[in-house]
Amino acid sequence: MAILDRLWRRGRDFLGTRYAIMGGAMTWVSERHLVAAISNAGGFGVIACGSMTPDLLAREIAGTQALTKLPFGVNLITMHPDLEALIDVCLQAKIGHIVLAGGVPPTPAIQKIKASGTKVMCFTPALSLGKKLVRSGADALVIEGMEAGGHIGPVSLGVLAQEILPHLGAEVPIFVAGGIGRGEMMASYLQMGAAGAQLGTRFVCTTESIAHPNFKKAFLRAAARDAQPSVQVDPAFPVIPVRALMNDGTRKFMQRQVEVIAKVRAGELDQKAAQLEIEHFWAGALRRAVIDGDVESGSLMAGQSVGMVTREQSTAEVIEEIVDQAARWLAIHHAGAEPAMLAS
Ligand SMILES: Cc1cc2nc3c(=O)[nH]c(=O)nc-3n(C[C@H](O)[C@H](O)[C@H](O)COP(=O)(O)O)c2cc1C
Repeated sequence: MAILDRLWRRGRDFLGTRYAIMGGAMTWVSERHLVAAISNAGGFGVIACGSMTPDLLAREIAGTQALTKLPFGVNLITMHPDLEALIDVCLQAKIGHIVLAGGVPPTPAIQKIKASGTKVMCFTPALSLGKKLVRSGADALVIEGMEAGGHIGPVSLGVLAQEILPHLGAEVPIFVAGGIGRGEMMASYLQMGAAGAQLGTRFVCTTESIAHPNFKKAFLRAAARDAQPSVQVDPAFPVIPVRALMNDGTRKFMQRQVEVIAKVRAGELDQKAAQLEIEHFWAGALRRAVIDGDVESGSLMAGQSVGMVTREQSTAEVIEEIVDQAARWLAIHHAGAEPAMLAS
C-alpha cells in the first residue's frame, strides 16, 4: 500500500481523495447515487451533466451534496448550448473540479472556471492538443483510449500513454481512462507516470447504480468483443464513433446518419446542427436503455472492460478490489524508483 500511496500521491492531492480513482461521468448513469457512492468509497465521483438544463444540474448537485460531504466533480459537454450557465451553476455550488468533455474546450471557459478557484480537467486525444490545453490553463488532463465506452477517439490508451505521459506527466496530473478493469493495469500506468485512473464501465453494475436491471444484465453477459465502435456511413461526413454493445440500436444509428446526411445535402441542416442532432440521438437512445431498460433499440454504451464486469457489487467493493489488486501487484513488481517515463 505504501508504494501505491507514493505513486498516486499527486492524483490524490489533486482530487482531495483517499484513492486517485475517478468514476468517469456516464450520461444517465452518473447521477447523485453512483457519484456519492464513489466519493464515499474513497474515489472521486463525477456527475454527468449530459444534456441537462442548468436547473436540473443545480438540483443534481444539491442532491449529491446531500449524500456525500466528500469531493466530487461535474462533467460538462463543451458543445452544450448553455455551457456558460452550466459553469455558473457549478461555481455557485462551489464544485471543486469541472471536467470539460466533448470537443476542444474554449479557453475563456477554462479561464472563467480557474478564476473562481475551481480546477479544470480536460480530455486530450493527442500530445499537441494536450500541450495547448496546459498552456491555456488546464489543471489536469484525462487521456482516454479507444477501449473506453461511449464517444471515443481513434487511438488506444497504450499508445496515448506512451505519447503523452513522458512529455506532460511532469507538468500536470494525468488520469488514464479506457479499458481499465483491474488494479494491476491501473498500477502499471501509475508506474509510467499517470497520476490516477478514470473508470466507467466497471461502475455500471454496482448496487448503487440506478441503471435498469436489463442494462446491467446486458453488461454481465457481454464479452470485450461485444463492445464495438459505431460505423461511419459516409467518409465525407465525420461522426464521432461511439463504443457500445451491438444491438438493434446500432443499426438504427446507421439509419439516422443516412437521414441526417441527406438533410445536410438538401441544405436543411448545417454541419454543427447535424452534429447536435446526432448527439441528441445518442442521448435519447442511451436514456431508453439505461432508464427504461430497452436493451433492444436503446444504446448500450460500454467499454471493452465490460468482460470484466461479472457480478453486481457495491461500489466500495469494486474500488477496494481494484486498490487491492494494484497494491499486491506493486508489492511484487515495483523496484522502488519514482514513477515516470523519460522524456527522451
Ligand atoms: C454508458 C456510458 C456513458 C458515458 N457518458 C459519458 C459522458 O457523458 N461524458 C464523458 O465525458 N464520458 C462519458 N463516458 C466515458 C466515461 O466517462 C469513461 O471515460 C469511460 O467509460 C472509461 O472507459 P471504461 O468504460 O473502459 O472504463 C461514458 C461511458 C459509458 C460506458
